Amino acid sequence: MNRNFFILVLGLGILVLGLALIILTMTMQKQSYQLGDLPEKFIHQHEVSDFDREVFEQRREKIIGETDADIIIISTGADVDFRYMTGFDERRGTAVIVPGADDPYTLFVTPWEVYTVMWTGEVHGTEGAIEKFGADAAYAIGDFDEMLPELLRGKERIFLHGNDSRIRNEVDRILESMGQRTDIRDLQPVLHEHRVIKDEWEIAQLRQAVDVTVKSHQYVLRTVEPGQAEYEVQAEIEYIYGRNGLKPGFSSIVGSGPNSCLLHHTRNNRTLQDGDLLLMDIGAASLGGYSADVTRTIPVNGRFSPEQREIYELVLKASDEAMEKIQPGYRMLDCNHKAMEIMVEGLHQMGLIPDTTSWWQKRFYIQHRVNHYIGLQTHDAGDYGFDTDKRDEHILTPEIRGREIKPGMVMTLEPGLYFMENLLDGIHEMFGHLATEEELNAFVEEVRPIYEKYEGIGVRIEDDILITENGYENLSAAAPRTIRDIEEAMKR
Ligand code: GLY
Ligand code: MN
Ligand code: MN
Repeated sequence: MNRNFFILVLGLGILVLGLALIILTMTMQKQSYQLGDLPEKFIHQHEVSDFDREVFEQRREKIIGETDADIIIISTGADVDFRYMTGFDERRGTAVIVPGADDPYTLFVTPWEVYTVMWTGEVHGTEGAIEKFGADAAYAIGDFDEMLPELLRGKERIFLHGNDSRIRNEVDRILESMGQRTDIRDLQPVLHEHRVIKDEWEIAQLRQAVDVTVKSHQYVLRTVEPGQAEYEVQAEIEYIYGRNGLKPGFSSIVGSGPNSCLLHHTRNNRTLQDGDLLLMDIGAASLGGYSADVTRTIPVNGRFSPEQREIYELVLKASDEAMEKIQPGYRMLDCNHKAMEIMVEGLHQMGLIPDTTSWWQKRFYIQHRVNHYIGLQTHDAGDYGFDTDKRDEHILTPEIRGREIKPGMVMTLEPGLYFMENLLDGIHEMFGHLATEEELNAFVEEVRPIYEKYEGIGVRIEDDILITENGYENLSAAAPRTIRDIEEAMKR
């Protein structure tokens, strides 16, 4: 055979083999996305803005209509309620509304001054207050105290905000010196009731926040692996926020292994171990300041262990069935009681709650109720129709149902079960006032061998639910939440 021909064939053969090898290693490479290399599907196309003048004008109109105020004064001392009223997003500002006046809406804001802007960043100034935020008049915030006596003169019904203590003190002082008869009322309850039902713009804000948060969950399913630190997972979550122009709405909770049992774990510095669960309770804030709140719990190595599976399935069942009760026609706590019923029954079947009529045996496993409003605050303002501070009263009392659920409410649904290590050793501290030493010891002795199998497992599944005219929409449904979908998404 021709020697040259032989070398050519050999060369071609090596080339083909090399190519095959390259293709093979490429397809075998783990299906993860590296930082910086972000496919389209993790980018959310924003259709919403940080502010909409018309929306805020209509909102103010309605709120004013719900008062009989001669004057309303609210400042950034009222925290997000000020933003709700004005859309104004700076650290300092005061709004004065005089219904029926020629120029009813005045904003007092940080004026544009070269050193202020140089040191603290761009401000809207009095010009922006008028042009962007729709004020009829605008002044420097420093002018407020001086103008206040004139603003208050002859006004009888004055609405201030309960948290605005600086304004309240100032108003009190002036009224006293003028000897004017007045009736001071609190604007806060009016605003908080308003905030319960979200308008279209707010719903768009929440959709944006939830969509981006969901994308973080989807992304992390492809990147999580043993050996990473919790803060690296947090960085990847918040990287997706950043790539979408958003910031965290609250401190990301990224808890692996035993940390999955710590409800508000934010230290996020443990290293993920093979066999751990990883609980991520996270939420981006929209451009207009509305925060999502979505939790997923996933196995670090991509597959749930039998014990993790058992607890996960129970929490998921509680979530699925409770969700059906987040609709018009039900009350605020109906979903909570459904979730509790399912989790308690499941734990009873597993031998973990020997006596389901014992309140403290149930309370040992139940740490929190399953829903809260979301909005400008992660736990948004508004009345629930029961005393939210008295957890021990409402959490396991089906008779306490709270207020009616209405279209336009947006709330979380977040059942969870947490098997904190050594929790059984704390039972005397927790329930010593409710049960005898013998009762507690008997419970511990019976339950411990079973409890130990689940120690270090914490599962929470949290979704954001919009109540519609005839039902509900789970805004966070696209973040995998069944075992099958999670394991499928984590396949490498
Ligand atoms: N992220 C706090 C909560 O779930 O309520
Ligand atoms: Mn949460
Ligand atoms: Mn929540």
